[in-house]
Amino acid sequence: MKLWTGRFSKEADKITNDFNSSIGTDRRMYREDIEGSIAHAEMLGIQGIISPEDAEIIISGLKDIEREISEGTLEIDMTAEDIHTFVEGELTKRVGDPGKRLHTARSRNDQVALDIRLNLMKECDEISALLKKLITVLGGMGEKYAYTVMSGYTHLQRAQPVTFGHYMLAYAEMFLRDTERLGDCRKRMNRCPLGACALAGTTYNTDRYKTASLLGFDDICHNSLDAVSDRDFIAELASCLSLIGVHLSRFSEEIILWCSHEFKYIELDDAFSTGSSIMPQKKNPDIAELVRGKTGRVFGDLMTILTVMKGIPLAYNKDMQEDKDCIFDSVDTVKACLTAFIPMIETMTVNSENMRKAAAGGFINATDCADYLVSKGLPFRDAYKITGGLVALCIEKNTTLEELPLDEYKKFSDKFDKGVYEAVNLDRCVRCRTSQGGPAPENVRREAERILSRIEDNK
Ligand code: ARG
Repeated sequence: MKLWTGRFSKEADKITNDFNSSIGTDRRMYREDIEGSIAHAEMLGIQGIISPEDAEIIISGLKDIEREISEGTLEIDMTAEDIHTFVEGELTKRVGDPGKRLHTARSRNDQVALDIRLNLMKECDEISALLKKLITVLGGMGEKYAYTVMSGYTHLQRAQPVTFGHYMLAYAEMFLRDTERLGDCRKRMNRCPLGACALAGTTYNTDRYKTASLLGFDDICHNSLDAVSDRDFIAELASCLSLIGVHLSRFSEEIILWCSHEFKYIELDDAFSTGSSIMPQKKNPDIAELVRGKTGRVFGDLMTILTVMKGIPLAYNKDMQEDKDCIFDSVDTVKACLTAFIPMIETMTVNSENMRKAAAGGFINATDCADYLVSKGLPFRDAYKITGGLVALCIEKNTTLEELPLDEYKKFSDKFDKGVYEAVNLDRCVRCRTSQGGPAPENVRREAERILSRIEDNK
């Protein structure tokens, strides 16, 4: 049954109906739709716009409907135009006239704007909880691998020594920012549009603050036109989710590289890898690849909402019905990615020896060798040049700075003595990088603790 048949003499044809319908998507918001209707009915009763008895009948009818849908005893009618139509129709079928009074001083325009805000606020909380789980895992790895020396890279070329723990905490920082961003986004979502009605408010004596507080909102949307046509919070959430995607995708890329034969820094647990149907030797990092790939969908969803919104005049336009498919897709995608990614990281084996070997072979202590000469009084630029010559010699002789004999060092500068071997020792190189935010193991342990206690406090 349509809510708007009064001025029409013909039924819409099937193609129009199917094209227009959004129940396939918005059925997902049945809880929020009912929650909003209950608050609205309560406010109408308090304000004397409907009788307290009618309000009570409506509320208990709605509660039954909610319970029955949750329990699976009431099926949502997929021929209904949308979830709002279904709930109101079902209520009226059950309670008669009071059901028909529910839509007083309300429109589907403010109703849908409310439902989606309520729904996405819950999703923000769920995604934040997943991120916190991931940060906890990474914080633990920061502690565990604070002394595990590995090479840091620039241009994917071995650059300077860090530790694996430090590396994991770099990702923890990104995901911490993601939780902050979600929190900010949620704050702006936390305003109630209900009562803006179709676009121009109402002549009834409604109390929008009452409805907002019954629903737990911080505030109301202050302009009725804006209340029903604002979808900024969807674009904002899509953008937060896109950044989570960027971080997960970069991390996935590293995982994929690290578990390749060329790196062998880590090994994924069998439970989180797949084989090949033809090549018996293969163990593929499919989960990481899928996470990297699915990030493309999340970006696409962001583009969808921005493009849908960019050309539509105030206030509600049906284009806006497209908002839900894209944001639900990105919410589901990011949740699925996090859910698969966390245990994959948690169970991977870290090959500290190979990390160490790669670190030893990459001249990543060349800067430390130059710094050693600086400590002997040479200007950094001269020290840099001398060290460059030493590295070239080592490459020629197929050796390392750790193993190059002292007399070879001395040919480059008489400032060298046997102290240089301590200076280029990788453990020392990392241990001495004590600058704030640097990879010295003591720093890393402290940072891991700080991150873990931040998550702990936040619970
Ligand atoms: N299904 C619609 C949407 O998602 C609900 C609002 C309908 N309002 C209207 N005036 N047709 O946007």
